Amino acid sequence: MAVGDPARTLGAAGQTLGAARRIVVLTGAGVSAESGIATFRDALSGLWANFSPQQLATEEGFRSDPALVWNWYKERRIRIAAARPNAAHEALARLAHGPRAQLVTQNVDGLHQRAGASRVIELHGNIGRAKCLALCGWMGPAETLEAQDARVPPRCPACSALARPDVVWFGEMLPQAAWDAAEAACQVAQVCLVIGTSAQVYPAAGLAELARRHGAQVIVVNPEATPLDDDAAYVLRGTAAHLVPALLGAAGR
Ligand code: OAD
Repeated sequence: MAVGDPARTLGAAGQTLGAARRIVVLTGAGVSAESGIATFRDALSGLWANFSPQQLATEEGFRSDPALVWNWYKERRIRIAAARPNAAHEALARLAHGPRAQLVTQNVDGLHQRAGASRVIELHGNIGRAKCLALCGWMGPAETLEAQDARVPPRCPACSALARPDVVWFGEMLPQAAWDAAEAACQVAQVCLVIGTSAQVYPAAGLAELARRHGAQVIVVNPEATPLDDDAAYVLRGTAAHLVPALLGAAGR
């Protein structure tokens, strides 16, 4: 891990990034923190410091009190809709415009896309969508469904089972196509840029290690230490909205 003068580390990391033919960018909740969206594991402000993940992020929790869980996601969805992408989302959208960079996110907030990024791989779903709890195959915009069906939660329009948020809960598989595409991007990248994730939730947390094993240099952007730091080529300590535009500027991207 390169430590020392932050400006020199930023310059060296930028050069490495600038020289890469293929880049994979892995993002977590920290990239949206400066848009006012709470992270999960930050000690005081993180959602899991204040709410129960067993109740709110498992199928058992949902089945035990579907209205409570639906309303919790609805409130988050409304906050997210009122939030704006920050400078990190915007810089990453410009980077991901080219064919050489693939954006992979654990976030369900859609802020990368709202900043203009296309081809975003969403590993954990999207809070704006609902799907059928009975997995009949239906999914659609949660807001539209609520407008059509005032029950809480609304019912699946295809089979009348309960609708649930289309986010991955603990104990559930990641969407296969998203996972396959993320793995493929990690296997060919020369640089893996990891921004704003505590790297504690698997399998997503394993992607940086996969990229490193396939020869990628890992660059971590995070104000706090992460389990990836020891094996990273560069660790940039600071916030995403501050450091990501500076890093991409240093890379000439
Ligand atoms: P966490 O809340 O676990 O970690 C957020 C990370 O962002 C921490 O390492 C913080 O230090 C860092 N951070 C905070 N502010 C930042 C800033 N301004 N700029 C950059 N970094 C900052 O969030 P994730 O790692 O994304 O699952 O969590 C992974 C998954 O766990 C989430 O996708 C979610 C949760 O349960 C689902 O929703 C399915």
